[in-house]
Amino acid sequence: MVERVPGKERFDPNGCDIKMKAVVTTGNGGYDKLAYREVPIPALEAGEVLLQVLAAGVNNTEINTRVGWYSSTVSSGTGDAACAEEKTATEKADGGWNEATPFPFIQGTDCCGRIVAVAPGGDGSTIGARVLVRSCMRPFGFESMENIWMGSDFDGAFAQFVKVPAGEVFAVDCDWSDAELGTIPCAYGTAENMVHRARVREGQHVLVAGASGGVGSAVVQLVKRRGASVTAIAGKAKMEKVQSIGPDRVIERNDDTVAILGENSVDVVFDNVAGSGFGRMLKVLKRGGAYVSSGAIAGPLVELDMRTFYLKDLTLIGCTAWDEPVFPNLISYIECGELRPILAKTFSLEQIADAQREFLEKKHFGNFVLIPPPLDEPIQRALAP
Ligand SMILES: NC(=O)c1ccc[n+]([C@@H]2O[C@H](COP(=O)([O-])OP(=O)(O)OC[C@H]3O[C@@H](n4cnc5c(N)ncnc54)[C@H](OP(=O)(O)O)[C@@H]3O)[C@@H](O)[C@H]2O)c1
Repeated sequence: MVERVPGKERFDPNGCDIKMKAVVTTGNGGYDKLAYREVPIPALEAGEVLLQVLAAGVNNTEINTRVGWYSSTVSSGTGDAACAEEKTATEKADGGWNEATPFPFIQGTDCCGRIVAVAPGGDGSTIGARVLVRSCMRPFGFESMENIWMGSDFDGAFAQFVKVPAGEVFAVDCDWSDAELGTIPCAYGTAENMVHRARVREGQHVLVAGASGGVGSAVVQLVKRRGASVTAIAGKAKMEKVQSIGPDRVIERNDDTVAILGENSVDVVFDNVAGSGFGRMLKVLKRGGAYVSSGAIAGPLVELDMRTFYLKDLTLIGCTAWDEPVFPNLISYIECGELRPILAKTFSLEQIADAQREFLEKKHFGNFVLIPPPLDEPIQRALAP
């Protein structure tokens, strides 16, 4: 299957008359690169749908992309890299997760939206549906590992409207609020992909680092629904909240994980923290265990003792491209009431810099969500049937 690649399309700053509010990221750098302004509403091409964005989650990836954290020149964690960019902004040709980020563009990986238009030839009966966007897309089919991300490779949800391929939107039937649904795609999609790839099953002992975060708290819930036992790692101030989502045990992030759990005690480690704790994560793994990661918030460079890796027959599983069953499964878990959203706070879209600043303090539990402003009259008229 070869679907159209939306990768290279960016909004046209000189485009059509009807404008929407959006946050345009203008380059690598600090918060001053987040420009709240008016840009043309995206024009649909064959196979696409137009969504009114109802809620857009905040993720590290948007900060990583703005500060150029994916560049091989960066060796610090996300927080330190963001501080450095506030002081001295540096353009980085390799700062995007995939290719160079062609600024200016609209970020926003998480979208809970409503379908307001479909391209000619599309299914008009879907108009009005509340949907989640599968932000990680596999344009060349699931046999290929190539993947592109809304909000990184093409314009995303930090706007009143976003356009996406029709096959990437999933209607969701539940009583969650828009903001609660806005917490889901990136964190839970990534988490479910990790849990799926590791084939977690009943009876296993799983260790989750950064369990108070978006991905970590989702992993805890998704592992528990598969019947495995979970030890969660969290900062002292967040341990009680993490306990409330159902792990079997919570240990403090500064405690000695190896001394508490013992060497060779864990079947699977989920670790999006990395940094200096990496070695300990491999020590607690049993022979034949798996270390699974899709992030490195505390630092991307780790020390690996190759002997631990090969003498224990470990498997390292890197995860970014979501596999085919992941997102549909996630929607079904929501609809069956098997997951709960953890909405830490909402902000208006215009307050994006405040939201990202507070997000980087890491005092919160769960996810932040941005709410775009309501549509003004000219837009409503233009959208009327
Ligand atoms: N590859 C992908 O597709 C993908 C998708 C989503 C996320 N990610 C990456 O995965 C990582 C985690 O994402 P997330 O959304 O779960 O992040 P998050 O919500 O910010 O949570 C990260 C958690 O890590 C813990 N932590 C431990 N040491 C830390 C440190 N030095 N700096 C900051 N936090 C630290 C914090 O919990 P305590 O304070 O309780 O210790 C924090 O709650 C990020 O690097 C993100 O970019 C990758």
